[in-house]
Amino acid sequence: MRFSGKTVVVTGAASGIGAAATALFAREGAVVFASDIDVAGGEKLAAETEGDVRFAECDVCAPYAIKALMDRAADETGGIDTVFNNAGAGGARENIAEIEPEAWDRTMDLLLRSVAFGIRYAVPHMMGRKGASIVNVSSVAAVGPGYSPTTYAVAKAGVLHLTKCAATDLAQHGIRVNAVQPGFINTNIFTASLDIPEEFKAQAKASIAQMSSNAQPVARGGQPIDIANAVAFLASEEAGFMTGTSLIVDGGLTLGPRHSWDPEEGGAFEALIALEEQVKAAQQTA
Ligand code: NAI
Repeated sequence: MRFSGKTVVVTGAASGIGAAATALFAREGAVVFASDIDVAGGEKLAAETEGDVRFAECDVCAPYAIKALMDRAADETGGIDTVFNNAGAGGARENIAEIEPEAWDRTMDLLLRSVAFGIRYAVPHMMGRKGASIVNVSSVAAVGPGYSPTTYAVAKAGVLHLTKCAATDLAQHGIRVNAVQPGFINTNIFTASLDIPEEFKAQAKASIAQMSSNAQPVARGGQPIDIANAVAFLASEEAGFMTGTSLIVDGGLTLGPRHSWDPEEGGAFEALIALEEQVKAAQQTA
């Protein structure tokens, strides 16, 4: 019961990582304000999750909706102890040679500005609360290009730097700020924006589940609870001396090219050895 008597706000709580974090915080004693744009999903989560979970509709692209969310949480409970800035989606798919300003702005508002104002409007309610802590969702996409579309990757890299800047600004108030960088986690994010009928979405989800099992050295797919566990740790007193840092939770996805750990995948070094063996065999035959 690490969060007994605490108030926690989670954005993007109706699905995936946010839903898992909501359930974990609630199970460990927190009052959780579970917010999302998905009203049906959020209400279902609040009804079905064990503990004190209160759904609040909030579009994180609207900063004043974020303010209303934080104000409500503080009004109902007296303050806020933890914020998990989690809401997100894949964003614009175009690369830098194709992106239009509106698509860039929409993605940045969803993935980066939302985090800035999730912090901004929570902080007045966190001042003076012992163990106050904010956790932001970044991504392995912040490590380097290639894990996601460009705008998403830039926004998630921005979340990491914002985390460091906010940690510096807020240390004087006793508020810690950290981030998590999930790897390939089996959630709805990959199929949510697909413009296809539901029956095809189910197929797409099954193939995502299969791909996520084989994507990294750890031989299973990443699950929302893997990230929720790291978030709860960063939010807890166990991480009381950690601020401005980030935990990569990716089953080893970012450790290097796949051939460095997958014997089925030949890398350049293996190709050179094969060439050497071919040349030697040819020399012996000659
Ligand atoms: P998900 O699609 O299962 O859940 C995202 C939730 O955010 C949904 O409930 C959705 O309704 C909500 N949401 C979307 N736009 C919103 C808005 N404007 N305002 C409020 N809520 C909104 O996805 P998942 O995977 O749980 O994603 C959570 C976070 O984790 C996102 O920020 C994502 O970028 C990040 N992440 C996910 C990874 C993965 O492999 N699943 C990898 C790295 C980062």
